[in-house]
Amino acid sequence: MSNSDRVVLALGGAGTVGSGVVKALLDKGFKVAVISRDNSRLERLRSFVSVGRKDNLTTIVGDVGTEEGVEAAKQSVLKAVGKVTDIISSLGFSWWQGGPPHTQSLKDLQWVIETLLLSTFVSWKAFFPLVRDDPKCSYTFITGGAGEKVLMPGTGFLTLGAASTLSFCQVLREEYPEVACKLNQVKINTGVAPPERMAPGFLNHLELGEGVAVLMERCTTSHSVFTIGCPADLKTVLLEGDF
Ligand SMILES: NC(=O)c1ccc[n+]([C@@H]2O[C@H](COP(=O)([O-])OP(=O)(O)OC[C@H]3O[C@@H](n4cnc5c(N)ncnc54)[C@H](OP(=O)(O)O)[C@@H]3O)[C@@H](O)[C@H]2O)c1
Repeated sequence: MSNSDRVVLALGGAGTVGSGVVKALLDKGFKVAVISRDNSRLERLRSFVSVGRKDNLTTIVGDVGTEEGVEAAKQSVLKAVGKVTDIISSLGFSWWQGGPPHTQSLKDLQWVIETLLLSTFVSWKAFFPLVRDDPKCSYTFITGGAGEKVLMPGTGFLTLGAASTLSFCQVLREEYPEVACKLNQVKINTGVAPPERMAPGFLNHLELGEGVAVLMERCTTSHSVFTIGCPADLKTVLLEGDF
């Protein structure tokens, strides 16, 4: 299937990680649909992508974190773009450092789990059937490395949330070993930011987006985890990248 025949649904596509991926996919000729709860973020995304590619971007206001919300969003996506061939999920948030667990409330933990795990699960359950049975289709999760270690004091709930998403991706690989579509994961073991907010060791979201777009373009394997921890890993992806 050529890139112009592929329609990517980018969940979290208006975010820091997602916007870099969306821009790179559009530049490669893919059509892209993005759902966000916040219309102003979608407008920012529209002005961020390349001028000549805006017609290939569909934006939809919706909440994919509830069963009712995701069904409404799904109908809007299908009405607007007709079909979806690929899904990339980068739902969540950029950073959390609210303090050690004894200073936090149940509500704080619920928010973290809702934003990182529950939205990933609810949207996967609704959208996976669109691509599941077609070997030309794909579902890719972007996760963070925070799930494997407490990063620094006060980031414990980020670790809990990120770990739950990592486990969810592992569960899907184990529970659906024979699924027809390509089911993959990109695990990012460092910070990601736009150029104006870069810190030492961070990945530029534009360069990360290009790497992820290459992986999605070449995607021939399934049930793979591609780990990116530094700019050198991105260069490897661009040269020889496949899951
Ligand atoms: N940024 C980093 O440093 C970094 C590093 C490693 C890994 N990651 C991974 O990348 C993921 C995304 O991070 P990010 O930095 O891009 O965060 P972000 O800028 O906050 O973007 C997250 C996106 O998720 C969307 N979202 C969350 N819940 C939703 C819901 N219920 N319905 C619709 N959209 C929802 C948000 O949409 P709205 O517009 O509706 O708010 C937002 O656009 C993280 O979860 C993490 O696993 C990030």
